[in-house]
Amino acid sequence: MAQNRDSFSNKFGVIAAAAGSAIGLGNIWRFPYVLGENGGGAFLLIYLFFILAIGIPVMVSELLIGRRAQKSVFGAFQALAPQLPFFRIVGVMGVAAAFLILSFYAVVAGWTVEYTVLAAGNQLADKTPDQLSVIFEDFSTSIWRPIFYLIVFMAMTAGIVMGGVKNGIEKYTKVLMPVLLVIIVVLCINSLLLEGAMEGIGFLFHPDFSKINSNVILEALGQAFFSLSIGMGIIATYGSYIQKKENLLNTAVSVSFADTLIAVLAGVAIFPAVFAFGIKPDAGPGLVFETLPNIFNQMAGGYFFAIAFFVLLLIAALTSSVSLLEVVVAYITEELHLKRKKATVLGAVLVTVLGVFCVVYPVLFSSFDKTTSNILLPLSGILISVFVGWFLSKNQVREELESHGGKFRLMKVLMIILKVFAPIAIAFVFLNKIGLI
Ligand code: PHE
Repeated sequence: MAQNRDSFSNKFGVIAAAAGSAIGLGNIWRFPYVLGENGGGAFLLIYLFFILAIGIPVMVSELLIGRRAQKSVFGAFQALAPQLPFFRIVGVMGVAAAFLILSFYAVVAGWTVEYTVLAAGNQLADKTPDQLSVIFEDFSTSIWRPIFYLIVFMAMTAGIVMGGVKNGIEKYTKVLMPVLLVIIVVLCINSLLLEGAMEGIGFLFHPDFSKINSNVILEALGQAFFSLSIGMGIIATYGSYIQKKENLLNTAVSVSFADTLIAVLAGVAIFPAVFAFGIKPDAGPGLVFETLPNIFNQMAGGYFFAIAFFVLLLIAALTSSVSLLEVVVAYITEELHLKRKKATVLGAVLVTVLGVFCVVYPVLFSSFDKTTSNILLPLSGILISVFVGWFLSKNQVREELESHGGKFRLMKVLMIILKVFAPIAIAFVFLNKIGLI
C-alpha cells in the first residue's frame, strides 16, 4: 500500500505545492493592510518572530505526522498512535475545516474569475468609483452569476486534483507559482515607479511601536497560522506525499519564506499605487474589487495591469483551493475507498453545493469563516504541537527529521516549542478570538 502511494517527484514539486497552498487570498488582500494598520515594520518583526518560533515548528510537525503515517490527516493519528483515540479528532477537524473553508473560499475565488473576465473584456475601464462599487454590489449580491463562477472555479480545482499528486497538483503548481512570482514582481515595479509611491511604502513599513498591544500581537500569530495553511491537516496530507529523501525542516523554512515574501511583495504591489492616487487604504473584497479597478483605470497600461492582478489573485486562490480539496479527496479515497476520479467529483460536488448555500445565505459565509479560523484551526494547532511534543517518541521525530541523511541539531529547541511555547501561545489566540480574553 505504502509503496503505491503517489508522491511529489522532487524538492521543487513539494515546495511549489505547499507554497501554493500557503500563498492565497490572505497574502494579497489581508496581510498588507493588517501590516500597514498595525505598526508597519514593528508588526513585521513580530510576525517574523512568530513564523520562526511557532509557524515553522508547527509546519514541521504536520509534515512529519503525514510522512510518518503515510496517510492523509484523517487516518494519520490513528496510524501513529492507535492507543490514543482522542487525537483522531484532529483528523476529523481537519477534514471538516477543509470542507467548510473551501465552500466559502471557492465563492470568493469565483469572483476573481469573474473579474479576470471583466478586466479582459475591458468592462471595468471608464467607470467611476461609484459605478465600480455598484458593479461589485450587484455582482456579489446576485445569485446566478456567483454560482456560475463558483462552478467554473470548482471545475478548475477538481481538474487539477483529479490528476493526482505528481500529475495533477505538482504539475500545475510548478508552473503556476513561478507565474505568480513574475506577475507580482512586475506589479511591484510598476507600483514603485508611480509618483508618490513612497507614501505607500511608509504606510507599510514605517515602524510604529506605539501601535503594538496584546491584540496586535495575537493578530500577528493568527495571521501567521492562517497564512501558512497550518492547523488544518493540509500540510500533514501533503507531508504524506513527500519522499524520505527530502529534508522536512528545509521544506518548512522554504515554504514559510516564500509565503512571507509574497505577502510583503503584495503590499509593495498594492499600497504605493493606492497612495499615489490619493486613495484611502483598505483590505478585503473592497480593496481588490472596488479600489484597485479604480486605480488601474487611472494608470498608464492599466488594462494590462488589471488583468495581471486578477490572474494573480486567481492563481493564489486556485492553488490554495487545490490543497483544500486534496484533504477532502484523500479522506474519501483512503477511508471510503473510492477511486481518485470519483472521489474528486464527489468532493467537488459536495463543496459546490455547500458553496451555493453560502451564496444564497451570506450569513453562512461568515459563520463558516469564523468557526474555522477562530475555533477549528487553533484547536487542531494546539493538538498537533502537543501530539508531536509529548506523545510521539523522540526517536520517531528524529528519524523523520534526519531521513534525508543529515543531522537535526535543533531537537531541544523544537521540543520546548512544541511542548510548551506553541500550545500556550496558540491557546491565547484562541481565547482572544472567542472573546474570553
Ligand atoms: N493560506 C491561505 C492564505 O493565505 C489560506 C488558506 C487557508 C489556504 C486555508 C488553504 C487553506 O490565503
